[in-house]
Amino acid sequence: MILLLASLGVALFYFSWVFKMVADWIHQYPLVKKLPGPKGLPVIGSVMDVIGDTTVPLLFFLDEAKKARARGEQTLTVNIIGRIMTLPLNGAMVKAIVESNDLMAKGKDYDFLSAWVGVDSILITSAEIWKDSRKRLTPMFHYTMLEGYMDTFNKHAHHMVEVLKKERLKGPVDMRNILKGSSLDIIVDTTMGCNFSFLTNPDHPYIHAVDTFTNYVQRHSMEPQMWINWIWFLFYHRECHNALNEMHKLTDEVLKGRANAVKTGDIDLDVKRKPLIDQFLVLEQQGKMSMKLVHFDINGVILGGHDTTSATLTWIFWSLACLPEMQQRCFEEIELIFGGDRDRDCTPEDLKELEYTDRFIKESMRMFAPAPLVQRGLQKDFQLGEAILPRGSDIFMNVFVIHHNEEVYPDNWQFDPDRFLPEEVAKRHPYDYIPFSAGIRNCLGQKFAMQEIKVIVATALRKFSFSTDRDLLDQGFATEVVLKPTNGCNLTVTPR
Ligand code: HEM
Repeated sequence: MILLLASLGVALFYFSWVFKMVADWIHQYPLVKKLPGPKGLPVIGSVMDVIGDTTVPLLFFLDEAKKARARGEQTLTVNIIGRIMTLPLNGAMVKAIVESNDLMAKGKDYDFLSAWVGVDSILITSAEIWKDSRKRLTPMFHYTMLEGYMDTFNKHAHHMVEVLKKERLKGPVDMRNILKGSSLDIIVDTTMGCNFSFLTNPDHPYIHAVDTFTNYVQRHSMEPQMWINWIWFLFYHRECHNALNEMHKLTDEVLKGRANAVKTGDIDLDVKRKPLIDQFLVLEQQGKMSMKLVHFDINGVILGGHDTTSATLTWIFWSLACLPEMQQRCFEEIELIFGGDRDRDCTPEDLKELEYTDRFIKESMRMFAPAPLVQRGLQKDFQLGEAILPRGSDIFMNVFVIHHNEEVYPDNWQFDPDRFLPEEVAKRHPYDYIPFSAGIRNCLGQKFAMQEIKVIVATALRKFSFSTDRDLLDQGFATEVVLKPTNGCNLTVTPR
């Protein structure tokens, strides 16, 4: 009897799932037919063009975007076995998306991310809960709070220099590992007030878990066999589940430890500058936030803040090493600002004086958009330019595609920091440059990230020069939540 009921339940589940798919398709098909983009094969659409390793989809989207722009189109729609995704192709289209109150829900790939950060995390959650989360978190990124994080940025930047001094003696240094460890140390220190020294512990299971999980996020988005439950459970679930457990374990342990320390009086919540976790615990004590939400928001900030920053820094150091003359110019600017002092901490005033280095960082973030996959899910039909996008489909703001628009950035594969001179910036739509997304749900941590990045660059460049004999574009681009270089980032590090 139990078996019969269970079978009926499963059958009903699949029936309603198939019914919804068919109903969505009947609604979407006439609209999708009119949308510009590659039609691909019947039913399966363009799936064969995006299957492969995690470098394949980006090249496909870049190529199709180029063709679509040449035809004078402003959007590009792709069908991956019935999953419809529309890409905006310029800043004006991006504006229509990111400033619309009707487009607050995230796309389907975020469902997968929710296994890590929780459905109610600020990164993922829908409009109603999101407003409260945003209100709660915004003061924590106010500039007065950011100044309080400077000591932490400086401490970890100096630590990175010490590690580089030793690592360079062994030969070229894998800067991805160094920058990943350092960014993770910074975000864990600022959010949870503790130090696991990931930098000197590159084999820490948490680091591997994040890598494994983020690789699955991208693969799940593009490999339809993973959408079939039994295949997922048979072949992939275990590895992904273990990674998730590892990631949750760390936050759980710290959160419990911290909450206990508050109860026993070992941590004083009344101090002015405190890590995010303590700011949340104050709200929890005041009954304004549940412990579950504290967990979600901490994970959301860690996810939003570490892989993105380490990917950005990796591409910046890669660019510095490949472009020695520009690196020299950055170094000379930094030397001047610091009066030749190669040991002192960076101050917020120092960072404000960086002009050329600031442009160099921005150009690196244009060329190698560190967080290229921003999505919105359509809960009702939406008019974007001349196109009507059907409900149930996704908008896919591929930041890399926006940043490589040859109509806005001539010679777009040419690295040129002067694209960020004020007079050049004034010539383009503000949303033609969106490394931190834009509009209502833009990145809350962008000032935090820019400050951290500048402290790391200014501290490292005062001590070392970085070089490689490879070319800037001798790289593959894997989109695994963040943009990763597939040909490594092993650089020769030479003391000054
Ligand atoms: C260079 C580094 C970073 C990049 C490129 C980046 C990029 C982004 C992007 C593209 C989004 C929008 C995501 C979407 O709409 O799907 C976002 C959202 C967010 N980011 Fe960042 N981010 C960076 C660093 C940080 C840091 C350091 C923090 C926190 C310390 C942070 C916290 C957040 C949060 C909380 C959101 C969600 C905002 C909302 O939905 O209201 N980010 N980030």
